Amino acid sequence: MITTDQTVRIFLDFFRERGHERTQGESLVPSPGDPVLFTTSGMHPLTPYLLGRPHPLGRRLTGLQRCLRTTDLDEVGDDTHLTVFEMLGSWSLGDYGGPQSLRWGIELLRDGFGIDPGRIHGTVFGGDDQVGPDLESWRTWDELGLPVEPTTDENWWSNGPIGLCGPDSEIFVWTGDETPRGTPTSDDRWVEVWNHVLMRYLRHPDGSLEPVRRRSVDTGLGLERLLRILQNTPSVFEIDVFQPWLTTLPRIWGPLEEPSLRVLSDHLRSSIVVLGDGVRPSPSGRGHILRRLIRRSLTTLWRDDPTRTLSDLPVELIDHTLQHFRQSVRPLEVRTILLDEERGFGRILQRGRKVLSHRRFTRPLTDEDYHYLHDTHGLPRDLVVYLTTESGLG
Ligand code: SER
Repeated sequence: MITTDQTVRIFLDFFRERGHERTQGESLVPSPGDPVLFTTSGMHPLTPYLLGRPHPLGRRLTGLQRCLRTTDLDEVGDDTHLTVFEMLGSWSLGDYGGPQSLRWGIELLRDGFGIDPGRIHGTVFGGDDQVGPDLESWRTWDELGLPVEPTTDENWWSNGPIGLCGPDSEIFVWTGDETPRGTPTSDDRWVEVWNHVLMRYLRHPDGSLEPVRRRSVDTGLGLERLLRILQNTPSVFEIDVFQPWLTTLPRIWGPLEEPSLRVLSDHLRSSIVVLGDGVRPSPSGRGHILRRLIRRSLTTLWRDDPTRTLSDLPVELIDHTLQHFRQSVRPLEVRTILLDEERGFGRILQRGRKVLSHRRFTRPLTDEDYHYLHDTHGLPRDLVVYLTTESGLG
């Protein structure tokens, strides 16, 4: 069975053989001056170069980037979403165009990773009232002999309401047991693995689009999603890098329901990686996101058994994660911070229970109650909901 490390090597070698230099993007924390809290995609560190600045490594690049997305937090626990994930990427900075990128993409999936082309489906930008259909990519899919579906919103990539954007063509792989059927928009067993974006426009605040001077191609391939397909697992949580989590957590904390096991594996692993990149828990910014991840792990853990504790988390598991992400922070330091957070959160919950035991709160809570609890006692709504559910009041 192909491993995560082998997959990364095959990808990077494929593009290096085709003249791409490897970028050094690694940390989740963007460089100083970048207003974004965390790196959310492989292309993020390359934004200035996609906007036209010459890159010191040239016009063909490839790389592996760890990313963090909190927009998907509520989806964590399904078969495909993770908080921290890795993205493989290839970039043409004003060099080759979209058709070449798609052709190499299909070649790599088929010949490099052995994916049957009968399980591949494309999507392409079908046009809207501002930009016409992406006929060039459409034609490429036809020439490759692969099915393609046009969409509008799903095939327009942007990083927010303004800035770089453009049409994209996405590669989907069939994950069902039977013969592939339907299309990516009609059957969710088609899983998107690789996005090829034609970075062609800058969107202005008034919604207008200005063509960029130098057209680039930006691709991002979700590593864990690809591994799920290559290792033929029911979800991303059973791939090799999650195996130590799946075996260790039930051993230390007893049987865990599948959704809890997934949330714990994802959030604890993500917390370790964020700590490994130097972020520390705090009331705002990056530290707040980290704190939310740790607290969500703790409420999940304590829902069934309040005696469970992060001090049972083996240091080897922390070390395994730090090593995978090539982080040099000491595992014991990470463990100490996790335990400090656990103690602090335990104290807040204790205080919250005391406040909520007041007669005023023994009836269903109103919005006014929630505001009061937040403003006067520093108890956020989700915590109050947790506490009232825990005591059977909610
Ligand atoms: N920008 C694209 C994405 O985030 C590909 O890197 O999906």
